[in-house]
Amino acid sequence: MSINKRKMLVSSALPYANGSIHLGHLVEYIQTDIWVRFQKMQGHDCTYVCADDAHGTPIMLRAQNEGISPEELIARIDKEHRADFADFAIDFDNFHSTHSDENRELAEYIYTQLRDGGYIKTRTIKQAYDPEKEMFLPDRFIKGTCPKCGAEDQYGDNCEVCGATYSPTELKNPVSAVSGATPIEKESEHYFFELGAFDDMLRAWTHEEHMQPAIRHKLNEWLEGGLQDWDISRDAPYFGFEIPDAPNKYFYVWLDAPIGYLASFKNLCARRDDLDFDAYIKEGSDTEMYHFIGKDIAYFHTLFWPAMLTGAGFRKPSAVFCHGFLTVNGQKMSKSRGTFIQARTYLDHLNPEYLRYYFAAKLGSGIDDLDLNLDDFMARVNSDLVGKVVNIASRCAGFIKKKSAGQLSAECAEADLYNEFVAAGKNIAALYEQREFNHAIREIMALADRANQYIDEKKPWVLAKEDGNEKEIQDACSVGINLFRVLICYLKPVLPKMAAQSEQFLNIAGLQWSDIESPLLDHTINKFKPLMTRVEQEKIDALLADTQKLLAANKAPEPTKKTKGKSMEPIADQIEFDDFAKIDLRIAKIVKAEHVEGADKLLQLTLDIGDGTKNVFAGIKSAYSPEDLEGKLTVMVANLAPRKMRFGISEGMVLAAGPGGKDLFILNPDEGAQAGMRVK
Ligand code: 2FM
Ligand code: ZN
Repeated sequence: MSINKRKMLVSSALPYANGSIHLGHLVEYIQTDIWVRFQKMQGHDCTYVCADDAHGTPIMLRAQNEGISPEELIARIDKEHRADFADFAIDFDNFHSTHSDENRELAEYIYTQLRDGGYIKTRTIKQAYDPEKEMFLPDRFIKGTCPKCGAEDQYGDNCEVCGATYSPTELKNPVSAVSGATPIEKESEHYFFELGAFDDMLRAWTHEEHMQPAIRHKLNEWLEGGLQDWDISRDAPYFGFEIPDAPNKYFYVWLDAPIGYLASFKNLCARRDDLDFDAYIKEGSDTEMYHFIGKDIAYFHTLFWPAMLTGAGFRKPSAVFCHGFLTVNGQKMSKSRGTFIQARTYLDHLNPEYLRYYFAAKLGSGIDDLDLNLDDFMARVNSDLVGKVVNIASRCAGFIKKKSAGQLSAECAEADLYNEFVAAGKNIAALYEQREFNHAIREIMALADRANQYIDEKKPWVLAKEDGNEKEIQDACSVGINLFRVLICYLKPVLPKMAAQSEQFLNIAGLQWSDIESPLLDHTINKFKPLMTRVEQEKIDALLADTQKLLAANKAPEPTKKTKGKSMEPIADQIEFDDFAKIDLRIAKIVKAEHVEGADKLLQLTLDIGDGTKNVFAGIKSAYSPEDLEGKLTVMVANLAPRKMRFGISEGMVLAAGPGGKDLFILNPDEGAQAGMRVK
C-alpha cells in the first residue's frame, strides 16, 4: 500500500538541567515517544528531538553551591538524563542542549530579526537587587513577610499561608534567599518583545486546529485580557547567551528554550543528508512541526513561540499538544507521601515497559491529569500483557515447536478471523494518530481476548493427547501465532522491547504497520522465551521504600559553601530573654486536619493543648495532606494573638522548618510528650 509520506518534526519539552527525571516527566516523554514510533511504523519521516534546558538563575546558583561551573553541572545532568531516557526506550533522534552553538546562533538570529522588524523595545524597570551578591533577584529568590497576613518566610510572589499574590516590592522585611542580604530596588534597562503586534495573527491561529479545545479557550482568555510586552532580557550575572547588541544583558531562559527544539534539529541535520533544516523551518513549509508539552507551559508555546517564529519569518507549529499532570494514588506526587518517584529508582525495580503500557492505557488526547494507581498498575499489566497478550504466544509456541518442528502452516486456517484483526488496524491507527492511546489499547485488548477465546475453542492441549491431530494443531496454533503477531504490531509503539523480542521469536524483520496485511505462512519460528514477567508486589514495595530513603537523604540539603557549618538562613536580630519568655510554646495534638475550600496553601488544624482546642490555619498544604497529620503531636505558639484571616480566625501557629514547598517539616515531638506540656 503506498502512503502519503509525511515529513514531521516532533519535540517534547526540554527538561531543566538541574534536576532528575521523575515519573511526572515521563508521562510526556512516553506519550511523545509512542506517537513518534507509531508515525515511523506508518512509514513517515518523523524526527523526534529534545535537549536539556540549560540556562537560567537556578542552574547558575546550583552550580555555584556545588562549587562547579554551570558547564560542569549541565554536562553531568546531560549524562544522567540521557541514561534515564534510553532506559525507558525514549528514542530521540537527537538529544542536544540549549547551551550549544546552534542554539546561540538561532537565538541571535531570531532576536535580530525581531529587533530589525521593530518588535523589540527597551524600557528601564525597577527590580529587587541583592547588594551583597550583586545580582538582580528573580521573585522566587526573595523571601519575606506577607504584606496581607503577616506570615513570615514567604516567597516574593505569593503567600503560602493566605494565598495572596503580590509583587516582591510589597513583601515586608524582604531578604535575598541567595545571601540573606536585604534587597534594594535598582533600575535597569530591559528588552521587551512586543507581543501585542502579533495579536491578529494569534487570533487567527486560535481559530485553526492547532491546539486542544481547552487550550484554545485559555488562549482566547489571554487574548481578551490584552497581550503585554514580554521581558526577554536578564542582567549579568546570568547563565545564558549575551544579547548581541547589549553587553551584560542576557536572553531570558524562556526566550532560548523553545529555540532549543530547532537547535537540536539543526544539530541533527548537520549529520543527516536526508534532512534539510531550512525546508522544515521556512514559512510555508510543507512539513509538519509538533510540540508535546505540559499544560502549565501552554502560554509560552501558544503565544510567545508562534509570535517569535512569525516575527523571525519562520513557520509556526502545526500543533501544540498539551497533557495533564501525573498523580500517584489519586494525589499530587508528593515528597512527604513518598510518591515523588525518580525515573532511576523505578528502573532499579521495575520493567520500564510496564509503565509505558500503563500510561498508554490511560492517556487520551485531553489535558486531564493521569493517575498512577499502584494497585491498578499491577493488576492491569499482569492481566493485559502477561495474562492476555504473552499468553497467546506461550500457549501456541510449544505445540508448533514440538509437533511441527517450528513450522507454521502453509495456509491460514481462519482467514476471516485474521482479516478481522487486520481490519481493526485502521481504527487503531486512527486512535494512535489522534493520541487516544487509551482507546487504542482498549481495542487491542478486545482483540487479545478474541484470540485467547479462539485458542480456548480449539483446545490444542486436548488435541495433542491423541495422535493424528498434528495438522489441526499446527493450523490452530499457526492462527494463534499470527494473531499474536498482529497484536504485537499494534502494541509496538508502546512496547518496543517486547516487540523486538517477539520479532526474534517470530523470526521476522522489524514490523511495520503494513506488514500484517498478509499472515506468516510456511515460516519457521524460533524457540519461545518468556516475553514479560508479572509485576510483583514486593518490587513495588521496594520501589516505594527506596523512594522514601532517597527523599529522606535529600531532605537535609547539601551544605553550600556559604552555609557549611552554619544554619541555612541568617540568624535574626538578637532578642532579650524576656522577649523569648513571652512565647508560650505548647505540645499540641492535631485532632483534626482539613482542607480549606478555596485556599491553595492552607490546612485548617484543630489542636488539642490539654485544656481546650485551638483553631489554626497553617500554610503547610504543600508538604502535608490532612491524613498525614491527624493524631500527630507538634509544637505550637499558644499565646499568639488571634488573627483574622480570609478563611476564619487563626488562634496560634504551628512550628515548621524548611525552605517551603514540599520541603517543610512540622516539629514532631517524641511519643512520650503529651498535649498541653509547655516547651521549655
Ligand atoms: O518547564 C520546563 O521544565 C521547561 N524547561 C520546559 C521548556 S520547553 C521548551 F520551551 F524548551
Ligand atoms: Zn499571607
